[in-house]
Amino acid sequence: MKITIVGTGYVGLVTGTCFAEIGHDVLCVDNDERKIAALRKLQMPIYEDGLEDMVRRNVEAGRLHFTSSIREGTLFAEVIFIAVGTPPGYHGEPNLSYVEQVGREVAAHMDGYRLLVEKSTVPVNTGEQLKRTVTKYLRADVDFDVASNPEFLREGTAIHDAFKPDRIVIGVESERAAKLLREIYEPIIRDSGCEFLTMNIASAELTKHASNSFLATKISFINAVARVCELAGADVEQVAHGMGLDRRIGRSFLRAGVGYGGSCFPKDVDAFVYLADQIGYDFTLLKEVQKINRGQREHILRRIQHELWVVNDKVIAILGLAFKPGTDDIRESPALFFVPHLLKDGARLKLWDPVAAAKFRELHPEPEYLDDILDCARDAELLLILTDWPQIAEIPLDKLRDVMKCPVIIDGRNVLDPATARNAGFTYSSVGRP
Ligand SMILES: NC(=O)c1ccc[n+]([C@@H]2O[C@H](COP(=O)([O-])OP(=O)(O)OC[C@H]3O[C@@H](n4cnc5c(N)ncnc54)[C@H](O)[C@@H]3O)[C@@H](O)[C@H]2O)c1
Repeated sequence: MKITIVGTGYVGLVTGTCFAEIGHDVLCVDNDERKIAALRKLQMPIYEDGLEDMVRRNVEAGRLHFTSSIREGTLFAEVIFIAVGTPPGYHGEPNLSYVEQVGREVAAHMDGYRLLVEKSTVPVNTGEQLKRTVTKYLRADVDFDVASNPEFLREGTAIHDAFKPDRIVIGVESERAAKLLREIYEPIIRDSGCEFLTMNIASAELTKHASNSFLATKISFINAVARVCELAGADVEQVAHGMGLDRRIGRSFLRAGVGYGGSCFPKDVDAFVYLADQIGYDFTLLKEVQKINRGQREHILRRIQHELWVVNDKVIAILGLAFKPGTDDIRESPALFFVPHLLKDGARLKLWDPVAAAKFRELHPEPEYLDDILDCARDAELLLILTDWPQIAEIPLDKLRDVMKCPVIIDGRNVLDPATARNAGFTYSSVGRP
């Protein structure tokens, strides 16, 4: 089937490429002309394992195309997925101007029936607004449908998640829309055996915000438990393991650490709180989730300040700039909190990340960036771990101790084993472990 994807970022590019891989004919649209020019030369705007090869394969097979023309995108296919950004506004409300713009522009070029599918994460009732906008800007007398199809992929495992989703959720108002979406996803449903859930648009929109907010709640919950563990001499890893074996609870997302980040959780929790407020519900539970998350970073910052006594002029090595391993995405990454604070305190920073360093350097050119962990740690008076890249767990600790000026590690992701680190001569602290 012919499919247009508007917005060729993490979600749009991965989704479009995976649709092409299962045999659809896909046109990816983006109004960032530089991004489209680069993609036409097969240069990836993001790092995602396996993506580059899959894009190349499908471009060469003639199933994946790129354009910056929304007109071309609108005329290309009956089904148009909207995968543009919905960044946070000033008060936590999502900025829906990109979604609205696509609605207006698509409406202006429609020459026949179109199904507009919200893939961007949007607040409940955005579907209604989108319908109003399209109706207002339509120039031809044609039918259209709006649907919601929230995206649940995780950066770092995005391609796997696209082919093996836990579920596919669609929110629709017509049989025609449901049938088109079912046809698009049929190969994935068949191969993965996942559930294909059909509901109304508002429920589909809410499913996404509720899911991300619940996962963020799990993270903040275990981080709060970690703080209690620190005060009580308990080990949060053992507690989380003990809890997680209960199938009603599950082990995933019970990982204590420096808190959640990334382009989704912080913004989606903010948006859910804001939206609930707007429609008359004070979501105090989620406000506490946000507070615990902020508190976790501040807690670790205080620990660094306590450990160094005077931060000014101290050499601090930071391992991990991406918000999680497997991606070069630095949006809301913990490093974006620690680096400016420590620079302000006068620290001399040395930074390492296997894929996100270039993006981070664009925002913070001042620190030194190193390609090798041991070079990064050389002469450091404290080493801070912020992303659980697998390379960190493999560092030879004796070599690490020898290159550092003071063997002090603050492990914000519980990557290392405390006993092993201490036996190797480190002053080691982590999150929620004695
Ligand atoms: N990144 C994730 O892991 C993830 C997962 C699930 C859902 N989401 C949601 O999906 C949406 C997109 O996220 P993303 O991370 O892919 O964002 P992104 O910033 O990586 O990509 C958005 C793209 O949309 C383009 N764009 C903006 N306005 C446009 C317009 N009018 N016409 C054409 N292109 C336009 C931008 O140039 C950009 O390339 C967001 O709502 C996000 O919350 C993201």
